[in-house]
Amino acid sequence: MLELGVFMPVGNNGWIISKSSPQYMPTYDLNRRITQLAEEVGFDYIFSMCKWRGFGGATGFWNYTVESMMLTAGLAPYTCRAGLIASIAPAIIHPAVFAKMAATLDDICQGRLMLNIVSAANRAEYSQMGLYPAHFETYRYEYTEEWLHVVKRLWTEEHVTHHGQYFHLDDCMSLPHPVQQPFPSIVCATSSERGYRFVAEHCNYAFITGNSVEETKAASLKAKALGEEVGRPVRTQANVILILGETEDAARAMYQDYVVGADRDAIDNVFHLRARDRTAERVANMKDRYESEDRIIYGGLTCVGGPEHTAEFFEDLAVNGAVDGIVMAFQDFLVGLRTFGDKVMPLLRRRGIEVGLPESGMR
Ligand SMILES: Cc1cc2nc3c(=O)[nH]c(=O)nc-3n(C[C@H](O)[C@H](O)[C@H](O)COP(=O)(O)O)c2cc1C
Repeated sequence: MLELGVFMPVGNNGWIISKSSPQYMPTYDLNRRITQLAEEVGFDYIFSMCKWRGFGGATGFWNYTVESMMLTAGLAPYTCRAGLIASIAPAIIHPAVFAKMAATLDDICQGRLMLNIVSAANRAEYSQMGLYPAHFETYRYEYTEEWLHVVKRLWTEEHVTHHGQYFHLDDCMSLPHPVQQPFPSIVCATSSERGYRFVAEHCNYAFITGNSVEETKAASLKAKALGEEVGRPVRTQANVILILGETEDAARAMYQDYVVGADRDAIDNVFHLRARDRTAERVANMKDRYESEDRIIYGGLTCVGGPEHTAEFFEDLAVNGAVDGIVMAFQDFLVGLRTFGDKVMPLLRRRGIEVGLPESGMR
């Protein structure tokens, strides 16, 4: 079975940094309509990221973003079977406040909540609030580990006393506990060595990404192997941005149009701001993308094509990368989701890949 998720457009214009791609705001109404359509089509989960600062340029790329936990609370009543993944950066919130918010949200989601833990890789988002301590990049995963340890204790124990390096709790209580026992699944999206280790030791799902299909498949296999090493199964989800047309030619024409309209200032900002906080190896990797046409896509694998090509692309990831699922963004979410449901899902089934089963396995 291949799990299907939608990567919600919580930021304006989704994942395409271009003046000629669809221009839109990340309104609640739009996100609600996307969620309902995704569930109708048979998607297994709805994923919203946390994002606190955009990248400007002519399109004001991601200058407008909605908050993930609040959005998830608003979307939950419009769903009945999909898993709901909300994102949080430990850097901005005390674990005891978060533990209670998440327990409340799991109740609202009727036990279908999952949580994406974001270790604040992009400094500008947090330094603007004074919430990026000096040299945080050198210990952000250690901080995240202690934070998550405290959260998990609050979800499972009645009284928590903890004196660690970053947090101090004295007989702290957080009831009710989450609906899901012992607690909701933990997700992390990473491409760093330290991040993979964090996933293997503390998470259930790794959301992986790469500049190429080969890199992404290798990342999936690696995340799983690391999980096996420490005796914890890790499920992997790849991130794909679809420029999906009714035909190959239609999709290619759309993509070329977006390339011509590239918002160069926003793209420069995306590259320079993110590169500043990454290792030399990661920067070299990002530079490859920055120098290609694919710079118009914020991140993830780009799949440009009609239904047949898209099905083949997904099959390769599932079969050769052992990917358990794919989280998707579209050039136009409502149009893309409909085409995906009508045209791509039947092709995947014909290739022997089960998708859109009535009972979602994502929890
Ligand atoms: C599916 C997916 C979800 C992501 N969600 C977030 C998010 O919610 N917030 C964010 O700032 N970055 C998000 N990212 C980007 C990075 O994964 C994230 O910044 C991460 O903290 C980078 O960690 P690393 O340095 O260990 O790779 C996401 C990426 C993917 C592929």
